[in-house]
Amino acid sequence: MGKFLITGGTPLKGEICVSGAKNSALPIVAAALMADSPSRLLDIPVLRDVQNLCEIIRRMGCKVEEKGNEILIDPAGIERPEADPDLARKLRGSYYLLGVLLGKKGWARSSLPGGCNIGNRPIDLHLKGFKALGAEMSIDHGIVEVRAERLKGNRIYLDYPSVGATINIMLTATLAEGTTIIENAAREPEIVDLANYLTVMGARIKGVGTDIIKIEGVESLQGAEYRIIPDRIEAGTYMMAAAVTQGEVFVKNVLVEHVKPLIAKLKEMGVEIREEIDGVYVKGNGHLKAVDIKTLPYPGFPTDLQSQMMVLLTQADGTSLVIETVWENRFMHVDELNRMGANIKIDGHSALIKPSRLTGAEVTATDLRAGAALILAGLVAKGDTEIRDIYHIERGYENIAAKLSSIGARIRKVK
Ligand code: UD1
Repeated sequence: MGKFLITGGTPLKGEICVSGAKNSALPIVAAALMADSPSRLLDIPVLRDVQNLCEIIRRMGCKVEEKGNEILIDPAGIERPEADPDLARKLRGSYYLLGVLLGKKGWARSSLPGGCNIGNRPIDLHLKGFKALGAEMSIDHGIVEVRAERLKGNRIYLDYPSVGATINIMLTATLAEGTTIIENAAREPEIVDLANYLTVMGARIKGVGTDIIKIEGVESLQGAEYRIIPDRIEAGTYMMAAAVTQGEVFVKNVLVEHVKPLIAKLKEMGVEIREEIDGVYVKGNGHLKAVDIKTLPYPGFPTDLQSQMMVLLTQADGTSLVIETVWENRFMHVDELNRMGANIKIDGHSALIKPSRLTGAEVTATDLRAGAALILAGLVAKGDTEIRDIYHIERGYENIAAKLSSIGARIRKVK
């Protein structure tokens, strides 16, 4: 089990490059199984979640070749549409195999998905969508089975614009008969990315990026070559690392429109930002102003950047309020930050952050983004910070220690 050791106090300087988006890679790797021929996927980040998904697909009988940031998937050999339950439990994204295999094979079995422990994480909206498309389902000892004799398009209203449910319904509806309309759909860029890949494979999808998505089912899909979008959460994390250390960094390989909500807040805090074609230049200008944040579905402020933003707010010159509306259990980083000297008080879904001087401590990453927040805290804290349970962080950030070291961070991984 590795740890990160960080010595704080150095402003970051230089250029850092963002990898492909984890949350695009997962549904896109799964969707490759829907085609009748192989796909070549590019810019896929080398991450444990993606590797586990590839291994699940391999164990179903398919050929999957991982070569650095490229993955070749030949969907020909699916023997049984069942995901290995132990592996499937390790990542939230494994639930996309349900939508994919239901569409392609008419039945699928997988364990209830895992992932970060940031809330209740039900899949009722996914199942509601499958049912509307004609599927039956059962859950027994944590194993979900979905099956359908015939899948038929339908109109589906989501009670909440869930990213996962929108994706899963879109996947199944692509190979269903007739037209499906998803209302109150999620609008996250990763959904648009998946739809673009499905379209290259032969799917007919309109309206992605808005809250009404229309899918006309097709009989078959052909594999394709596809390059996924950069990871906007990784980009945002590095932008904030630059700002919190009062550094000067060009964060490269960013689709700037995907990080607009963060840019708006950083500018409000007094951070200098310059938007370039392929990235964002970030420069601290000596001090940070307090701001209020409310997390919302895209294009609101992303919940996946909330914990990192809280570290910046501990360094701001007044009191800030953070309201988390997406997940009910997403303040687990607060205890750890307070152990480092932060002054944060939680009241239900809100956190009140007062300015403080952070000092190094031994802390534990409780989930992926909480872990990223602790790295930011370590970079700005006085003295040494040791972060345990970094496997959470490595589920979502490719080579984070090496990338941050390359712009001057004093961070290293030890066994
Ligand atoms: C995805 C991202 C995650 C991000 C989240 C919100 C992946 C692999 N993960 O997670 O990093 O934090 O979007 O941007 O892409 N909900 C229900 N019923 C459901 C599904 C969801 O009530 O069937 C609720 C959840 O409990 C949560 C909210 O909807 O409160 C958001 O969940 P959702 O958008 O589905 O997130 P994920 O797709 O799991």
